[in-house]
Amino acid sequence: MTTYLETIDSRPDKIKNQPLSLSSLVQTLESLTGLPSLDQIYDWLEAAEISTAELQPYLGFKEGNYWRHRVCRNEFVELLVLCWRPGQRTPIHDHNGSHGGVKIQSGMLWETTFSYHALAGLQYQSACEHGPGSVTGSDVPDIHQLGNPDVSEQDLVTIHVYAPPLGVLHTYKPGSATIDVYTPDDIESLN
Ligand SMILES: [Fe+2]
Repeated sequence: MTTYLETIDSRPDKIKNQPLSLSSLVQTLESLTGLPSLDQIYDWLEAAEISTAELQPYLGFKEGNYWRHRVCRNEFVELLVLCWRPGQRTPIHDHNGSHGGVKIQSGMLWETTFSYHALAGLQYQSACEHGPGSVTGSDVPDIHQLGNPDVSEQDLVTIHVYAPPLGVLHTYKPGSATIDVYTPDDIESLN
């Protein structure tokens, strides 16, 4: 049974609304005793002010696909840094019961959302872009696709928090009712 924390923000009152460094965010996540709500994740990400120096161990790009770097993970939550070259994007997917938030550290994030019906299959819903400092995310059972637009001409770095940590995900194809499964790993994965 899922257990959500009762408080909106588990950080002590004295540091609420103050900037969260990467180490402070990790410390907050590692002290959790239950699943954080999506609002709580948004609050942390909006407060996050992470320096390039702190991110350096998690910055790395590759040409074939976006690169996923895990910062921390426990039974309730995981924190990831994703690095995207222009044109790199996820398949269309849901999070199979996890909810999560994304903060754009640098670059431009492209997001497309979809709806799914057993008879009609996957249908396009909306698209938008998120610039540096923006926070977005997905609740259950949202279906979306994230990426760095091929016309952006700049790299994209994003910070992701998922609760609970991502397991086996569902993937979708436009115009199709077929649902496949995918297990993310540290090399090529969905987020
Ligand atoms: Fe996702």
